[in-house]
Amino acid sequence: MKIIALAGSSSNTSINKRLATYAAGLFESGEVEVLDLNDYELPLFSVDKEKELGQPETAHAFLEKIGSAEVIVLSVAEHNAGLTVAFKNIYDWASRQHKKVWQDIPMLLLSTSPGKHGGKNAMEAAKISLKWYGGNIRATFSLPSFNENFDTEAGKISNKDLDDALKAIVQNFDYGKET
Ligand SMILES: Cc1cc2nc3c(=O)[nH]c(=O)nc-3n(C[C@H](O)[C@H](O)[C@H](O)COP(=O)(O)O)c2cc1C
Repeated sequence: MKIIALAGSSSNTSINKRLATYAAGLFESGEVEVLDLNDYELPLFSVDKEKELGQPETAHAFLEKIGSAEVIVLSVAEHNAGLTVAFKNIYDWASRQHKKVWQDIPMLLLSTSPGKHGGKNAMEAAKISLKWYGGNIRATFSLPSFNENFDTEAGKISNKDLDDALKAIVQNFDYGKET
């Protein structure tokens, strides 16, 4: 089973990328590919830029990569109570080539931040948006206070209760299509 893990962040030290990578590894018999949003960098989307650049190959490549997944593990980062520009940018470019960017592929949606809300505003923003664009969110999990609850060296959640909660979500993951 091909699992694509990605963060809604282009940070080289993204905590959401760490969380997505860990969560993706919890799926049994999964082959995990971790995407880096820096590989999908494009100028800031505008209709004027679109006139200039047309349908960039980079956005096409992003759509193809997403389409190759059987499960998507996306962890969204929170900037000013919303989604990051880096994530929204490739999402916007991609949506101009194919409206169903997320292609109805079963998704585990995550978020984390150093704060106690764990990026829940970004998660809510993602939930509102993705459902219109082929998002098939089967389960969600927010990790609060990343620095206290994640062991970066070991690459795993250090808080047992939170770790157990995520493991249960993965074990009970429902691959069915949205009705
Ligand atoms: C411009 C900016 C705005 C931010 N706004 C929020 C916020 O609204 N809520 C929050 O919990 N964290 C906020 N943060 C902190 C991020 O959660 C933190 O930088 C986190 O590491 C981002 O995730 P990432 O490492 O995956 O990129 C903000 C950080 C930046 C740089």
